[in-house]
Amino acid sequence: MALPYSKKVIEHFKNPRNVGEIDDADATAMEGSPACGDMLKLSLKVDEKTHKIVDIKFESFGCASNIATASVLTEMVKGKTIEQADKVTWKQAADELDGLPPVKMHCAVLAIDALKSAIDQWKEKHGLAEKEPTTPNKVLRKLRNVLNPLTGASIVRMQLLQDFDVRDGVVTIDLDLTPDHKFASHIEEEIHEKLDHLWDIKEVKISFVGSPDS
Ligand code: FES
Repeated sequence: MALPYSKKVIEHFKNPRNVGEIDDADATAMEGSPACGDMLKLSLKVDEKTHKIVDIKFESFGCASNIATASVLTEMVKGKTIEQADKVTWKQAADELDGLPPVKMHCAVLAIDALKSAIDQWKEKHGLAEKEPTTPNKVLRKLRNVLNPLTGASIVRMQLLQDFDVRDGVVTIDLDLTPDHKFASHIEEEIHEKLDHLWDIKEVKISFVGSPDS
């Protein structure tokens, strides 16, 4: 049976606003939904002086509700300051669409998670994030959406972090992949992108320690 979508959901799904990727983005985030496994990528351009979001784009690898929520959300926050955008909730985005079916609420949560993640990244880069020290748990949280392109699965979920530690501002990560893995440099780059800018991190050391038969 078809789900009862509002006219606004259907309209945003058919004509999504702000689709794509900003080439010289100030922050980008890729978030995945634990409920369905779908992904959303979002990029932001922010005015340094006013903190206003001057551009925002998204690419959804999710369902119609996710596309519609991401679309309406980009319209809601474009022109707002980072601080104002940070206060927008998934419920407000769903209300702006005249509601979503209850089983689709997690699709709106995914859109908001991606926005918050991009905002956090921007704040961290500009020294505006709360100075929470980097712990092994925080490293895991930051890396949960780094994917191995070969399998499409998270390196954290696939337990590819054989060993990792944070000590005196240095993160050391041993990855259970061989150094000649097809996507080794891609994965390395993604990890650096997630961790290098953290305020208390001086260095991120990544080793590929997998054996050819593992
Ligand atoms: Fe996955 Fe909607 S079902 S984002």
